[in-house]
Amino acid sequence: MSQSESVVPRIGIHDLALATSHYALPLTALADHHGIDPAKFTVGIGQDVMSVLGPDEDIVTMAAEATSRIIERNGTDGIRTLLFATESGIDQSKSAGVYVHQLVGLPQQVRVVELKQACYSATAALQFAVGLIARDPSQKVLVVASDVARYDLGSSGESTQGAAAAAMLVQADPALLTVENPAGVFTEDVMDFWRPNYRSTALVDGKGSIRAYLNAIGGAWEDYRAQGGASLEDFAAICYHQPFTKMASKAHRHLAVLSGANPTPDEVAAYLADTMRYNRVIGNSYTASVYVALASLLDHHEGDLTGARVGLASYGSGSVAEFFGGVVQPGYREHLRVAEHTAMIDSRVMLDHTAYEVLHKTTLPEDGREYLTARETARPYRFAGLGDHQRRYERTLG
Ligand code: CAA
Repeated sequence: MSQSESVVPRIGIHDLALATSHYALPLTALADHHGIDPAKFTVGIGQDVMSVLGPDEDIVTMAAEATSRIIERNGTDGIRTLLFATESGIDQSKSAGVYVHQLVGLPQQVRVVELKQACYSATAALQFAVGLIARDPSQKVLVVASDVARYDLGSSGESTQGAAAAAMLVQADPALLTVENPAGVFTEDVMDFWRPNYRSTALVDGKGSIRAYLNAIGGAWEDYRAQGGASLEDFAAICYHQPFTKMASKAHRHLAVLSGANPTPDEVAAYLADTMRYNRVIGNSYTASVYVALASLLDHHEGDLTGARVGLASYGSGSVAEFFGGVVQPGYREHLRVAEHTAMIDSRVMLDHTAYEVLHKTTLPEDGREYLTARETARPYRFAGLGDHQRRYERTLG
């Protein structure tokens, strides 16, 4: 059989697990501190709470927690690749995924690599995973997205911080969502948001970033349509990258207008509501955000989504965007993690503004000396400290 005659297997997301931080800050506390009307945050940008990392947490500890949940349920058989997507890299050389590989006990016969393009790279990882599995459908790929969104104290971006990881097991005959062809893609060199190597917080042209996001998502959508993709009304739901949930509303309205429709704000809000529940209380999680939105949709949608087409609209500043569809699989509800996700979000410890500011100002030594982090997280993995310029991690449970 020639390659063109071969049957392309159904490939997609078999399992999806989230993790977030030990702490969180209600945005009312941030508004009070700055003397701002809280409605600017809760209504204007559509955020209620943002996750805040403890001193002994980072992208590795969140990623290890989400990945371990996947392995507890599915084992490691067939996993030969781990793709780690982040824009909060902890090392210029070593992939954060290699730490996760060790912490969760993956076998050595696994390739691990880190991918970067702002908030977009988890979508690239998912597409690369689909390609690997199309070549050998017996293989499975772990796609792990983990990020902490940090802006300067007092900056306009401060209310759009957050932190989370999303781990996905990608394989043939998936239980949750098959990934469809085609995908629409778009790239443009634009300085809307970036983080030079010498900074721990991002630089952003706030209003310019909103314009760049809309332009790129519109470009990806038009490419998707030109490649023969479905029309807007064929989607039961669309999960957008959500730096703040109001951004998804702006993006959906933009695609609707490009498609000749003119939905009211209430119609847009109702269409997107289920995709926003987790993001509203986690905040921006960069690479993980669009997959947090997918988990939110699947976990909260009341009707049966079996057979429904769901859109994924991914954006990474700088900028790259991609739009593609997926089909929700029969029996998907038995594979959801609603209780686990709810407990994880509800168990965060709420900070007051003073404690948040102390955490935000905490920095790590850069001279290679021994440094032990304060033992604060109740999550299963912790960043124990530094020594000899190396990061140390440990399990806290079991
Ligand atoms: N009640 C209700 N609404 C209010 C209000 C009040 N009292 N006060 C203000 N608002 C509304 C405003 O009208 C505005 O709504 P619209 O955008 O619909 O007009 C909204 O609240 C925000 O107000 P401002 O525009 O005045 O807010 P700002 O300029 O202080 O900051 C921001 C907004 C630019 C998004 C800023 O938070 C920021 O820079 N965030 C980081 C960058 C970002 O997230 N960009 C998104 C695209 S880039 C991307 O997606 C990649 C990524 O992950 C970073």
